[in-house]
Amino acid sequence: MICESDNKLNPKFESIKINGRCSLQGQIRISGAKNSALVLLAASLLTKDKVYLTNIPDLSDIRKMKNILKSIGVKIENCNREKIIINSENLHLGNIPHNLVHELRASFFCIGPLLSKLGQASLALPGGCNIGKRPIEEHIKGLQELGATIEEKDGFVNARINNNRRRLKGTHIRLGCPSVGATETLIMAAVLAEGKTIISNAAREPEIQDLCEMLNKMGAKIRRAGTSKIFIEGVKYLNGCSHEVIPDRIEAGTFLIAAAATLSSITISPVIPSHLNSLLQKLKESGSEIIIKNNSISIKTEKIKGVNIETAPFPGFPTDLQAPFTALMLKATGKSIIKETIFENRMNHIELLKKMGASINLENNIATVSGVKKLSGRNLKGSDLRSTAAIVIAALTADNSSLVEGLEHLDRGYEDFEFKLKKLGADIKRDLTRNISNNSYNDDYFMNEVQKIYAA
Ligand code: EPZ
Repeated sequence: MICESDNKLNPKFESIKINGRCSLQGQIRISGAKNSALVLLAASLLTKDKVYLTNIPDLSDIRKMKNILKSIGVKIENCNREKIIINSENLHLGNIPHNLVHELRASFFCIGPLLSKLGQASLALPGGCNIGKRPIEEHIKGLQELGATIEEKDGFVNARINNNRRRLKGTHIRLGCPSVGATETLIMAAVLAEGKTIISNAAREPEIQDLCEMLNKMGAKIRRAGTSKIFIEGVKYLNGCSHEVIPDRIEAGTFLIAAAATLSSITISPVIPSHLNSLLQKLKESGSEIIIKNNSISIKTEKIKGVNIETAPFPGFPTDLQAPFTALMLKATGKSIIKETIFENRMNHIELLKKMGASINLENNIATVSGVKKLSGRNLKGSDLRSTAAIVIAALTADNSSLVEGLEHLDRGYEDFEFKLKKLGADIKRDLTRNISNNSYNDDYFMNEVQKIYAA
């Protein structure tokens, strides 16, 4: 198995140097959605035919997912940086390397397709992570209701279809919470089941709609995706297809927030504006001017007023933008109350932002932010994907320079993050350490590479 060579450098030992007092201008391209691409890669296991995926973001999580698929016999052809051809005709149980499963929770998405295609599956339990325990009881319960026997033993989840049946059996599943991952797992298990399945209290995220759009292209019969009640009529097999991953609404929101925080004016595209309604409403409330044109959004900010947010399942305010939005509120006029209701440990950025001079009181996942006049650059290390992005945003608005570490988190979910910020005028540079083969890269090399991408 030829592993996707992860970044030749090791982001664990890299840092980004940011000079503050930054102003951004211009336009950047939004990449394909990480949280859609990951589940679409798993869904491609549901057919023996080739699946052509485009607009795949070049992220460490995506490279890990590709390696997981390769470990179970899937052939992946990289046509270019964002287009791949997936061929699962030789799918087998294989042994997915433990470290890959533990490093990437999304590997658990394979359980539904493996059960449907091979009648059984054995996957390491996806661990918790820095933002919470991340339980999977909704996934397990739903699969059991679809006719699977699930055994958790020695850190593994072993699943097989009951009574040696060839197919799972459709049923009415009522989720205890609108879990994104559980909704996706159960959709992928139900599309090839015998009979009808209803998933009530389903999650409504755009990434679920993207998954169902691709599955229906493959011949699945799914209705009302994007609502809290999804109807699936099982079919005997699925065909290949071509599918373009939707733009990443969280990356888009992060750049809009960075522009607002630096009192800038930028344009981002492609985006699907309806995927960002809750954020756009809060940005307008806090004083930004937003102009939407087809698949692009322009933002212009001259002042920032403190506003309150409470995270909620889609279409509510996304938990993935809570940390970046907190960074926006640090120098706002007045107070803002930021309430995290989805994950129990998603306030890791608060202490780091306070080191920069932010005035925040945190209690029971509720952060009360009092706007300050200035922030000071610091050397800080982020501990999860979105809190590291929040620190970068705060550093752009600080009075002096910062050094941000924890790029192994950032590189999971933001493609070319510092290059895109640099293209918008930020004084930002990744300090590259020596890579594992001891060659030293200079960043002109990377800048040339990126120019090629943007020139394309
Ligand atoms: C997806 O995670 C996303 N990841 C997350 O994005 C995102 O924050 C999250 O949805 C919420 O929108 C991917 O799509 C790969 P959940 P997922 O199951 O599916 C509880 C990022 O930054 N829950 O909707 O794991 C759970 O503990 C990442 O890009 C149960 O209690 O999220 C959490 O509190 C982070 N039992 C809440 O539901 C279960 O069986 C939401 O979890 C499942 C979940």
